[in-house]
Amino acid sequence: MKKILIEAKNISKVYGMGADTRVVALDDVSLEISEGEFIALMGASGSGKSTLMNILGCLDKPGSGTLLLDGTDVSLMTDDELAMVRNKKIGFVFQSFHLLGRTSALENVELPLLYSDRTHITDLARKALEAVGLSDRVHHLPGELSGGQQQRVAIARALVNDPEIIFADEPTGNLDSRSGLEIMTLIQQLSEQGRTIVIVTHEPDIARYAGRIIQITDGKITSDEINTDRIIASGNITTGGSINTGSNYMAGGNIPAGGSINTGTNTIIGGSITSGSNITTGTSDTGKTAPVSPALSETSSALF
Ligand SMILES: Nc1ncnc2c1ncn2[C@@H]1O[C@H](COP(=O)(O)OP(=O)(O)O)[C@@H](O)[C@H]1O
Ligand SMILES: [Mg+2]
Repeated sequence: MKKILIEAKNISKVYGMGADTRVVALDDVSLEISEGEFIALMGASGSGKSTLMNILGCLDKPGSGTLLLDGTDVSLMTDDELAMVRNKKIGFVFQSFHLLGRTSALENVELPLLYSDRTHITDLARKALEAVGLSDRVHHLPGELSGGQQQRVAIARALVNDPEIIFADEPTGNLDSRSGLEIMTLIQQLSEQGRTIVIVTHEPDIARYAGRIIQITDGKITSDEINTDRIIASGNITTGGSINTGSNYMAGGNIPAGGSINTGTNTIIGGSITSGSNITTGTSDTGKTAPVSPALSETSSALF
C-alpha cells in the first residue's frame, strides 16, 4: 500500500457573508491522495477546483473540515506554519506562470531555495532547469522565453525543493496546443518518475493524461475514478519540431521518428524509466524557521 499523502475530510469553504454574495465554493469534500498518484481535478469554470487545490496545497484554509498532510493536521496551523509546510513539501505551477519578470530563469528557480535552509542553491536550480530541458536558457528573462519555456521554468521552480507533491492549476491554459502537449509530456514524465501530481483543468483532453480523474460540480465531488483511457503525452508528438529534453529528462515511449529530439546524455527513449535522474536536495534539515511569507495576493514569492 502506498502512503497516504493527503487526507481531506469534510472540507467546506464559503465565500462572502451577505445573502446576495454568499458562495459555497466547496461543500463537504472528502478525498485521499496517495504517494505517486497523478490526479486531474476536473470541472466547469467556477465549480471549485482552484479553491480545492489551494486548500489541499495549504495556500488557503478550509472553512470547516480537516486536512491531514503526511498524517499531520494542517487545518489549524498559522499562516507562518503553513508557509513552512508549503516550502518543504509542496510545489505549485499556475496557468499564468507567476515568474518574476526582471529576474533570470535561474534566479526564478532559486527563489524557493532562498526561503529554505538549503545550500548550493545555484547548483540545485541549474539541475532543476536541466531536468526540464532548459540548460541553455538559464540566464534568459521570462520575457525572452516562449510561453512553454516559461511554464517549464515554473515547473523547475516547483521541483527545486524536491516537494512531496506538485499542484498545477490549468498549467496549459495559456499555451498553444503544441506547447501544452510538451508541458503535459513533462508533467507525465515527472509522474512516471514517482512524483505525486495534481493538475486542475476544465479540459477533458488534458485530464486524460492523468491516472485518476476527480470531477467537481458546484463544490462537490461528483465522480472519482481511475482513468482507464489514459493517454501518453509523448506518444502524440508527431510533428517535426525540436524537443530538447535535456540531460536528466526522460523522453518516454513511442516518439515517432521525423522530429529532432535531443534527449541529452542520461535519457532513455523507449519507455523505460530512468533511475538516478532528477534533483538532489542538498543539505540536511536543521529545523531552522523559514522566513515568513507574505499573503498570497501580495507577491508571487509567497507561493514558494
Ligand atoms: N476570493 C473569493 N471570493 C469570493 N468568491 C470566490 C473567491 N474565490 C472563488 N470564489 C467563488 O467560488 C466559486 C469557485 O471558484 P474557483 O474555485 O475559483 O472555481 P474554478 O477554479 O473551478 O473555476 C466560484 O463561484 C467563485 O466565483
Ligand atoms: Mg480555477
